[in-house]
Amino acid sequence: MRQILVTSALPYANGHIHIGHLVEYLQTDIWVRFQKMQGNRCIYICADDTHGTAIMLRARQEGRSEEDLINEMSDAHQADFAGFGIEFDNYGSTNSEESREVCGEIWQSLREADMIVEKQIEQLFDVEQGTFLADRFVRGTCPKCGSEDQPGDNCSNCNEVYSPVDLVDPISIATGSKPEVREATHLFVEIEKLHSFLDEWTQSGTLPKESANYLKNFFLNEPLKNWDISRPGPYFGFEIPDSPGNYWYVWFDAPIGYIGSTKQWCKAHDEKLDDWWKSDDCEIHHFIGKDIQYFHTLFWPAMLKTAEISLPTKVHIHGFLTVDGEKMSKSKGTFIQASKYLEHLNPSYLRYYYASKLNSRVEDIDLNLEEFESRVNSDLVGKVINLASRSAKFVAKTGLSDSYPDDGGLFEEFATAGEKIATHYEATDYSKAMRLIIELADKANPYVEENAPWELKKDEAKAQQLQDVCTVTLNLFRQLAIYLAPVLPDLAEKAGELFGEKLTSWDQAKTPVTGIQIAKFKHMMQRVDPKCVQAMIEESREENAEAAPATPQGNWDDSGDALEAEPLADEITFDDFSKVDLRVARVIEANEVPEARKLIQLKLSLGGGETRQVFAGIKAAYEPEDLLGKLVVMVANLAPRKMKFGVSEGMIIAAGPGGKDIFVLNPDEGAVPGQRVH
Ligand code: 2FM
Ligand code: ZN
Repeated sequence: MRQILVTSALPYANGHIHIGHLVEYLQTDIWVRFQKMQGNRCIYICADDTHGTAIMLRARQEGRSEEDLINEMSDAHQADFAGFGIEFDNYGSTNSEESREVCGEIWQSLREADMIVEKQIEQLFDVEQGTFLADRFVRGTCPKCGSEDQPGDNCSNCNEVYSPVDLVDPISIATGSKPEVREATHLFVEIEKLHSFLDEWTQSGTLPKESANYLKNFFLNEPLKNWDISRPGPYFGFEIPDSPGNYWYVWFDAPIGYIGSTKQWCKAHDEKLDDWWKSDDCEIHHFIGKDIQYFHTLFWPAMLKTAEISLPTKVHIHGFLTVDGEKMSKSKGTFIQASKYLEHLNPSYLRYYYASKLNSRVEDIDLNLEEFESRVNSDLVGKVINLASRSAKFVAKTGLSDSYPDDGGLFEEFATAGEKIATHYEATDYSKAMRLIIELADKANPYVEENAPWELKKDEAKAQQLQDVCTVTLNLFRQLAIYLAPVLPDLAEKAGELFGEKLTSWDQAKTPVTGIQIAKFKHMMQRVDPKCVQAMIEESREENAEAAPATPQGNWDDSGDALEAEPLADEITFDDFSKVDLRVARVIEANEVPEARKLIQLKLSLGGGETRQVFAGIKAAYEPEDLLGKLVVMVANLAPRKMKFGVSEGMIIAAGPGGKDIFVLNPDEGAVPGQRVH
């Protein structure tokens, strides 16, 4: 039996749960339920992330205490999660005494390891509020490109990264006033001291491949910057015991909340915290989104390592949710809060739909509303529940046959498939697990069709045959309900009621049930009503009055002018094509070549320390800094060419007629330098 501690990212207490968040909580809940069904000792730990400037300012605005605000949000979050069947073993708060204690212990370790340095830094101060301003609370003009109304940390126009004090004409968004520059002491963690440990740990198989590969490059180039983990008061958080007037930054105590919440659970269950966080026998699995990778793959392991606490066994990283192929949009009504969904639709639909899309890669998933409806209706109602609804009523009086009838090997086949399905669940490849389950349903349905219990029912002489056919059908249904139980606990419960048992263990699918009574069949799931989907979207749209601008649609330039300007070339053979070695590369340096009108000098990384210098004629279309860090496609086996300014060792691929109209091709997310483009 494995011992496993599982966490999801702690949701901020300053916003409600929406269907984007649910990707992660459902992904995690399914995994935890699966582990529990395997007989593993598994706990699911979460908490609200409660500290920081945003909460402090909102509480002030609403004229109440921060505690009052976070308590209300915690109740709302927990109600939303419960509504979706997400079951935590403990749901705590980063503002708990337990969290404070663990923060203190980790802090002490960092001090003892001489990892903390103190520095005076300049920060913007809102005089009206009497508070220093977090980066997101300042907007102003970009110091680099002059673009107005930019956030405090980086420019959305030119991508420049800066400090809020560098903004021209900064404005506090808390009060609309002009903030002052003031000096304050901040405390930093010198994570560079753990550079080689982190380099190794991130490559140790703990992270998804894509993330590990990305970090490999990250470590190659630069020393790790000191991490600023304190904020001067007033700040809603924990005051640093040996630095009065300074508070731990929200991102310092957020992950510590995982341990704080476990500590609460341990107290309530008479368990030892060290058995979970300091034991080699316990696995730790974090589920997070790709936006917070840094915190969990650099800062968090650095803190754990220093404090001699267990490092995560695995960090499972998922992508974002899009709806109908686009970012969730308030104006389109696709920014849907969990509570709004629950007013209109059955949570099982979303649980199943997400499961049918989720895999182990760091990929965005799309909620396509039409597909949502058709998939739930066809798979669950049409193929799975259908089995029970077409057979249960015929054995309501007789119960199941005393011995399991000959079914041509179906039950055995379903039982064997359980292993493969389990492997997919374990690997968080739920889409594959769902596909296998539905493939089994596709085998069970022809059995019912061919044996037509509704026909057998008409002939008294066929009573035994009828009972046997229903015994087989219901047993196959029961196996499917067990395999779907991590995703559809509600269905498993209703199926269990039918058989008078609880479907809580994977192994139950190995043995058929016979000779038992069958409860009266009750409806297990309705079809998705498109009117409810529509109403949910409408209401979401109306309630999000401050609509985001709609994206133009159908604005494509497919006129054919480009093709006419440059007609297709003569046919080539496949072998001709494969002579060209196209590779994914990352731009790791980009410089102007002052003497050349058209050229930018690029240094491209092919991964593993392999680099190439390329002079690209794209100066009219790109600023060098726009290219930095980008993935491009290069011709890697082009003979080097000596140019006036140096040797060009390849070429990057771009489209367009030239001049300003040059479009460098980027591979989709997930590609890594060195991969061949076929
Ligand atoms: O990004 C977020 O929503 C954070 N509140 C997640 C914190 S995760 C963990 F570190 F606590
Ligand atoms: Zn800018």
